[in-house]
Amino acid sequence: MKSGKYTIEEARQLDAADPLGHLREEFTIPSKGDLKRRNLKHDGDKEPGDEDPSIYLCGNSLGLQPKRTTEYIDRYLKTWGTQGVYGHFKEFDDALTPPWVDIDLAARGRMATVVGANEEEVAIMGTLTANLHFLLASFYKPTKEKYKIIIEGKAFPSDHYAVLSQLAHHSLPAEALITIDPPDPEIHYLPLDHILSTISAHASETALVLLPGVHYYSGQFLEIQKITAHAHGLGITIGWDLAHAVGNVPLALHDWDVDFATWCSYKYLNAGPGAISGLFVHGKHGEVVRSPSATESETEQFEYTPRFSGWWGSEKSTRFRMEPVFRPIPGAAGWQVSNPSVLDTTSLAASLSVFARTSIASLRERSLQLTQYLVELLDHAEDGDTAQGYRIITSRNRDERGAQISIKLDEGLLDKVMEILEKEAVVVDERRPDVVRVAPTPLYNTFEDVWNFVKIFRAACKDAIAAA
Ligand SMILES: Cc1ncc(COP(=O)(O)O)c(C=O)c1O
Repeated sequence: MKSGKYTIEEARQLDAADPLGHLREEFTIPSKGDLKRRNLKHDGDKEPGDEDPSIYLCGNSLGLQPKRTTEYIDRYLKTWGTQGVYGHFKEFDDALTPPWVDIDLAARGRMATVVGANEEEVAIMGTLTANLHFLLASFYKPTKEKYKIIIEGKAFPSDHYAVLSQLAHHSLPAEALITIDPPDPEIHYLPLDHILSTISAHASETALVLLPGVHYYSGQFLEIQKITAHAHGLGITIGWDLAHAVGNVPLALHDWDVDFATWCSYKYLNAGPGAISGLFVHGKHGEVVRSPSATESETEQFEYTPRFSGWWGSEKSTRFRMEPVFRPIPGAAGWQVSNPSVLDTTSLAASLSVFARTSIASLRERSLQLTQYLVELLDHAEDGDTAQGYRIITSRNRDERGAQISIKLDEGLLDKVMEILEKEAVVVDERRPDVVRVAPTPLYNTFEDVWNFVKIFRAACKDAIAAA
């Protein structure tokens, strides 16, 4: 920790020297007045400072809107309005996106760069939990001996429900679900050795492991490569929920030999609430082999990883022949089921075009600086200030975290602290009963945002302690 006080001038200097600072201009940041007027009763009630940007540190929940999304969506609406059904095949010289029949290609290449995959290993489709079911349909193959699924004890509830329902679907009991529980439930840190030894302990009966890349609650960035290699060494298939990792931390899914993964695009990818998701299937699982002896009409003429299929996963060249023959597209695209929402995919294409202005490595560098600054400020006690009312539960090892720092408040403080933050137009989110998640997002947050947050947060904690 540095000696002396941290000042707002210093925060501004850090911003001025920041080579990625210009990217903030790409985003619409809700103003303080916008957030106040969220409550319609306050409409028209203008105050000085209302035009200032809010302190938005909530990209771990919903990323901000890129300005260029408007241009992309306008193009989509214009195409639909002027072309109707021809939009499926219409090429424009000035097109921001391809014809709708190829709309996934507008996002797939850039998505592959973000997750560290070959383009053919990525499909733009569906939503996270739905994709998880499709992937489990392919990759969870219980046998009499190996049928258990390992997740971690505080898995995002949707993953937990999905896995339990998959077990039930195979007529297996809930006891076939094994959880990796943290040694200290208070901070929910999962040491690597602990993860590996739990997998080893159940290996002889385990068919599949499903883990988060970055943990939604603690912000821990798990060692995906090492855990994947360990599972494979024990003959276990492994998949990853990358909701909090994608667009946040560097990923190399292909090189790390991950079997499958899925994510959402509304957090660090900024594609909009509930926007279309994506999935990764390693190239080795996406192969399609055509049987040389088969005739055209036989449905069993291809060998491929079994899946729940739909027409959008079938070869484009024959798709519109409307034949009852599923000819899987090689790679992850063969897992597509329905024609994707063009509106959604256009929004994703717009947000990924912002990522294309920089690199994940540069964003990571900036992210580490922002989180380090946040941790230092939170740790830095002001003169005579001992009763802070909080502690950081995210790992202090920078390699074990993404953009999110989770802060645990002393008992009974959360409501008051959140009330004060909201009044001050500071946007973070809470995980009841006592955790606040704060995510300086490297695409649009500044050191000044972090400085302002800590000032308001510390004061809020003091007020909450005084009121308790
Ligand atoms: C870690 C994690 N997994 C799964 C989900 C569920 O996502 P969806 O509602 O898009 O299926 C979320 C949603 O925030 C999440 O954070």
